[in-house]
Amino acid sequence: MRQKLAAGNWKMNGTGSDLAELAELIQSQGTATSELMICPPATLLSRAADLAQNSALTIGAQDCHSEQAGAHTGDISAAMLKEAGATAVILGHSERRADHSESSNTVAAKTQTAWAHGLTALVCLGETLDEREAGDTLKVVGDQLAASLPEGATGANTVLAYEPVWAIGTGKIPSLAQIAEVHDFLRAELTTRFGPQMAEATRLLYGGSVKPGNAAEIFATSNVDGALVGGASLKAADFSPIIAALDAS
Ligand code: PGA
Repeated sequence: MRQKLAAGNWKMNGTGSDLAELAELIQSQGTATSELMICPPATLLSRAADLAQNSALTIGAQDCHSEQAGAHTGDISAAMLKEAGATAVILGHSERRADHSESSNTVAAKTQTAWAHGLTALVCLGETLDEREAGDTLKVVGDQLAASLPEGATGANTVLAYEPVWAIGTGKIPSLAQIAEVHDFLRAELTTRFGPQMAEATRLLYGGSVKPGNAAEIFATSNVDGALVGGASLKAADFSPIIAALDAS
């Protein structure tokens, strides 16, 4: 049985005063049966991890370098994230793929480094609007999955997030049938490559404009085990009803 997961991606948002949102979340969602995760910017990781200690909330990071250490100005290593209190790291988010030209091979290398430091890799996949309109969604997502996920993936060390690029931050979401098609496809691809046990154990999140108003229907969709939430994770008042919808699904 897969534990459902509501993960919040704060992106490049949040300074110390925003930690009050975490405190509120911990207080109001202490009895949630879903796993809760917030991925704040790196500057807030250790303070967030301190706040979340002995609570139902886990803390994730938003990226790491593929190398263990070295001359990479401005980058952050998996060991640093682990020491700061992260238990997971988002890898291959479409904003990283676009803004920093990250290829799926780079994402695979980062995934391996994250695993080596005991971090769960939350690997993101998703098509652009052009790719969807050309009818290439499953091919694009399948290729990204094949190249971004190294051998050794398990349900414990890996979470996948399907995030259509055109749905991120736009208020648009695919139809529920389109979400189901991709999630069913991802589960089948995992079964083919890693076997049924791994595929059954791996959480598949949907991401892209998840809001309190659409969360319940998304969570009722085939093979959706939770969500990766951007904008609506910044305020506890927005994220809480999404968590409640996931718990109820
Ligand atoms: P959004 O972002 O919820 O603001 O659309 C989702 C994401 O990029 O993870």
